[in-house]
Amino acid sequence: MNYIKSKNYDTEIVRQKIMGPNPLKLTEELLKDIDIPKGSTVMDLGSGQGVTSVFLVKEYGFRVFAADLWSDPSENMRFFEQMGLSAENIIPIHADATALPFAEEFFDAVVCIDAYNFFGRDKEYLGKHLLPFVKHGGYICIAVPGMKKDCHADIPPELLLSWTPEQLDYIHDIRYWTDIISAASGIEILSIHEMESNEEAWNDWLSCDNPYAIEDRKSMEAGAGKYMNFIAILIRRR
Ligand SMILES: C[S@@+](CC[C@H](N)C(=O)[O-])C[C@H]1O[C@@H](n2cnc3c(N)ncnc32)[C@H](O)[C@@H]1O
Repeated sequence: MNYIKSKNYDTEIVRQKIMGPNPLKLTEELLKDIDIPKGSTVMDLGSGQGVTSVFLVKEYGFRVFAADLWSDPSENMRFFEQMGLSAENIIPIHADATALPFAEEFFDAVVCIDAYNFFGRDKEYLGKHLLPFVKHGGYICIAVPGMKKDCHADIPPELLLSWTPEQLDYIHDIRYWTDIISAASGIEILSIHEMESNEEAWNDWLSCDNPYAIEDRKSMEAGAGKYMNFIAILIRRR
């Protein structure tokens, strides 16, 4: 894939803010066949330090609410201003995905990159805690780090060089996610598939000098990549 939009963001300031495999390439691939009009109100759920939020405003023309649990909204707002944006079209919010502080049917779309696996593994989550905030006909676009095939009962040693079994419990295969997502009613599942950007997104991340990236290198350099993928989940609210 040619990352026409993401390639403009390979700058030091962006590299310092990313928290995992290149979230911009993942976002660009995730949204490539989804038609969300300019001016739409979009939640970047689990936005982290807001790199994807900036991307969604600048490249797609959305009004974005950057909702995240671990990051500091004041720090995120400073970053947004540094990137030339204002509260007119990008709003940082400290929020827990399981208790979102928004009005029902507020969003045209939700984008969630490398975060849904932290809170969305409960079969009730989607229908009860996220779907109500999306307009009928609106989209939920998710990219999660995944496994090609679940192997939690017999974890390959390469995976254990960087991650504990408890951390790996957040990572699953397409079959697992299909089962979780299908439990929600009132949705149309547009697609659940393996993403093409997986390898490039990982390579970009591993070349960062972020301490978490350095830790992840142990497994990936030992060949753990053959067990891993990124999974796209595209949903429309009926
Ligand atoms: C690996 S980071 C990814 C951040 C960002 N989306 C990116 O790709 O750069 C995972 C993010 O999930 C967020 N997260 C985890 N649990 C959450 C929850 N219950 N509610 C909201 N955000 C959560 C964390 O705050 C963290 O920023």
